[in-house]
Amino acid sequence: MELYHPQLMPYLESLVPERPAAMQAMEAYAQQTNFPIVGPVVGQFLYLLTRVSGARRVFEMGSGYGYSTAWFAMGVQANGGGEVYHVVWDAELSRKARDYLAQLGLDSLVRFHVSEAIEQLQRTEGPFDIIFNDIQKEDYPRSVPLIKAKLRPGGLAIFDNTLWHGAIFDPNDHSAQTEAIRTLNRMLSEDPDFECSLIPLRDGVLVARLKER
Ligand SMILES: C[S@@+](CC[C@H](N)C(=O)[O-])C[C@H]1O[C@@H](n2cnc3c(N)ncnc32)[C@H](O)[C@@H]1O
Repeated sequence: MELYHPQLMPYLESLVPERPAAMQAMEAYAQQTNFPIVGPVVGQFLYLLTRVSGARRVFEMGSGYGYSTAWFAMGVQANGGGEVYHVVWDAELSRKARDYLAQLGLDSLVRFHVSEAIEQLQRTEGPFDIIFNDIQKEDYPRSVPLIKAKLRPGGLAIFDNTLWHGAIFDPNDHSAQTEAIRTLNRMLSEDPDFECSLIPLRDGVLVARLKER
């Protein structure tokens, strides 16, 4: 389903500052291989959330070959340094990410783990300022309690693909992924511990701030 006016995303993309050559190469690789990266418009938004929140510790779940990681790492670097966890279960993608992030001069900020992301978050000591989730969608709802436990009060949980190409609006679509996204959006929006906005950028980005108690 086409979610936006056809000129909207190209227009927003034209406003994103030019990226370093290695990031442009990552964008070109995604186009050639049809790999689902967040893209420059959402990438710039993730960078901005990192800067606005002053985040120094970011945990990324389902990192691919490091494109979204690069945006977080640029934000953390500009905030004075810290660490960004890159977690993906595919060793070849992890190797590719190391290579790209080294080309960008950001690899010293990144902790690389080849692992299932929920298990890795469980094993990793918190708290985190930001936890970004881009794993297989059917696992989004079950990741929420752990994310909540690992975020600092005032920290941000961010979920990509929360409009799921508009499939969530189709009353006949009961696939596991579509149902999981519907559950996640409702569950976070109704959770009194979070304050949320679903931002209709690209495929939808849900931003949830954990309240101080
Ligand atoms: C949508 S892509 C990530 C793109 C990345 N966030 C970006 O924008 O550059 C998701 C990646 O995470 C991997 N993945 C999915 N579920 C995972 C899980 N539970 N644990 C670890 N990796 C996972 C997928 O195989 C894929 O490589």
